[in-house]
Amino acid sequence: MTDAEANELAQAAREASERAYAPYSKFNVGAALLCASGAVFTGGNVENASYGLTVCAERAAVFGAVAAGERRFRALAVYADADEPTPPCGACLQVLSEFADDLPIYLAGRGGGWREVRLRQLYPMPFGRTALGDQGKD
Ligand code: THU
Repeated sequence: MTDAEANELAQAAREASERAYAPYSKFNVGAALLCASGAVFTGGNVENASYGLTVCAERAAVFGAVAAGERRFRALAVYADADEPTPPCGACLQVLSEFADDLPIYLAGRGGGWREVRLRQLYPMPFGRTALGDQGKD
């Protein structure tokens, strides 16, 4: 993907972070997921007074995309409203791995710009459906 496309995706993630609901941590995160169809699905973290029910921005974006019929992803941008960009948490890496073997991930923060990492670099050995004896294509 070109730098201009990555910039656009990072910008979509930043805008999504403005819609995050994070009154407890005050750590707003936004994610933007570019799908094979060209559609972009975004999400922000959604916290809850019962803290453990919080959903991260990345999973919100993945679930929105899958609910809309998308299962093939081309790139992800994550914006953290913090000085330093932060990678997706382990739970989100596992969820992303359900749908992507590898994926460019653009990490952005308040400083502007982004850093590219890859899903397999962050999460080299995911638990997958083959462990369940399932070779299906669904
Ligand atoms: N959070 C995300 O949305 N994505 C991440 O990758 C890391 C953490 C959220 C969860 C919680 O609402 C807040 O950031 C602090 O952990």
